[in-house]
Amino acid sequence: MNAQELRDTTRRLIEHHKGLLAMDESTPTCNKRFAGLGIPQTETARHAWRELLVTTPGLGECISGVILYDETIRQQMQKGTPFAAAIADAGIIPGIKVDTGASDMAGHPGEKITEGLDGLRDRLAEYYQMGARFAKWRAVIAVGEDLPSRGCIEANAQALARYAALCQEAGLVPVVEPEVLMDGWHTLKRCAEVTEDVLRAVFNQLYTQRVLLEGMILKPNMVLPGATCPRQSTVDEVADATVQCLKRAVPAAVGGIALLSGGQAAHSASACLNAMNAGFNSRLPWVLTFSFARAIQQPAMEIWRGKKANIPAAQRALYHRAMCNQAACRGEYTSAMERP
Ligand code: 13P
Repeated sequence: MNAQELRDTTRRLIEHHKGLLAMDESTPTCNKRFAGLGIPQTETARHAWRELLVTTPGLGECISGVILYDETIRQQMQKGTPFAAAIADAGIIPGIKVDTGASDMAGHPGEKITEGLDGLRDRLAEYYQMGARFAKWRAVIAVGEDLPSRGCIEANAQALARYAALCQEAGLVPVVEPEVLMDGWHTLKRCAEVTEDVLRAVFNQLYTQRVLLEGMILKPNMVLPGATCPRQSTVDEVADATVQCLKRAVPAAVGGIALLSGGQAAHSASACLNAMNAGFNSRLPWVLTFSFARAIQQPAMEIWRGKKANIPAAQRALYHRAMCNQAACRGEYTSAMERP
């Protein structure tokens, strides 16, 4: 393992209040988002959307790394440059999603286990050759009356740690994503308990599998009430609960924390990230930044709708979200920034 290379890449991903743009939706997920807006669910449309994202003027001012999907890293831009090379030329670090998705977990109704360890060593070597310098793996944890189970938490934590160790061996910074889902009517308190439990299990496994904490990024969920919980929380409640949970469960040595948005409205995700940084930044051992997919892409996709003429306006909307989130990393985001 080249520890110095891993530390350097990690630092470059979190410095200057920049964050990550996740654009690694699997083909079915990307198609689902397109279908909702009447965009054709074709490879051509996915290519056009992803080229729009990475050619957004000024993106590298606010975004340090983009997470690609396997389909995209193998594609070229219209001018013939491979996506990864074009991203690197824009001063952004290319990354790649390396899990192969979550399957129903045997013996655990309602729960999923993320797959993709078979052959991973060879795939990581290939992605490194293609220019990727970090990699993401997402585990999903559902919350319900009797969920999550110990079996689901432990199996996903172990898979995350085995993937992270393989990434570091290959020179790629692992972005370790254990996502406690927002689906359900559970309370903020319940999300906090589950998130803390999951993070403790993940860090136990990362330690057991000898993962270099300084050379990894954690990508956790914010602590939120379930989407259908009758009592929704304020921005400050979410920020307090999330920071408390992270302080209890995440070792200070971890290279950085890049929160996911999890289906929150774009402005809510920015406001929560801002409240964490405005309220606690100077007292935290790690940088708190963003690794959003929907909360950066969605407003731009709604403008684009597959039409060439809408590209400049969609790119402006994308840049605006990236800029708002960078301001949130500084604790300087305000709702006034949302006005045109
Ligand atoms: P969201 O920000 O839309 O939750 O996506 C982040 C991500 O990369 C999910 O794996």
